[in-house]
Amino acid sequence: MGKNVAILASGNGTNAENIIRYFQKKERKDGADGVVLVVCNRQDANVFKRAENLHVPCIYIGKEKWATGEEVLKLLADYRVDFLVLAGFLARVPDALLQAYPQRIVNIHPSLLPKFGGKGMYGNRVHQAVVEAGERESGITIQYINEHYDEGDIITQFRCPVFPEDTAEDVAARVHALEYEHYPQVIERLLAGTD
Ligand code: GAR
Repeated sequence: MGKNVAILASGNGTNAENIIRYFQKKERKDGADGVVLVVCNRQDANVFKRAENLHVPCIYIGKEKWATGEEVLKLLADYRVDFLVLAGFLARVPDALLQAYPQRIVNIHPSLLPKFGGKGMYGNRVHQAVVEAGERESGITIQYINEHYDEGDIITQFRCPVFPEDTAEDVAARVHALEYEHYPQVIERLLAGTD
């Protein structure tokens, strides 16, 4: 049986779009994995438009409803979701979800964790910090999530160089390219390994 994936996103949604396209390209036959749902915690996020263009439902869940996780769990059950993928999701995942999806929730972080992680470290703030620290490399971390920001078990990392003249935007572009290249494939491999 193919696995049903839900993506949690908060913002622009370029990774969400890339992952949806990756699985759609593989032609969703009966028994194939696919993205069936996007859940977003910001009403004005770009990801709504991207999901709509690809005919994937994108549903807003506001702050209060995230607190217990009950509503989200019900939604995930309605869509028969097997596996959760965080792609630029900037809120805490409720414990109820962690318990309901053990080792079935993955996150991507735009640095080589444990460097440049933790609460408040997301998106361009990470790349700015990398440049200011004079780092010579950066990259991405794909990890399972747990109850602490950016401290879940690391599944894999991919690296890119950082040059002395780089701006945060230069680093962001290189890191995004790594995300687009690797995240869908890693998700696909993880799905193949779950029962
Ligand atoms: C991505 O670079 C992702 O790694 C990062 O936010 C960006 C979202 O971009 N996630 C974090 O910083 C999580 N701590 P997108 O919305 O265009 O996919």
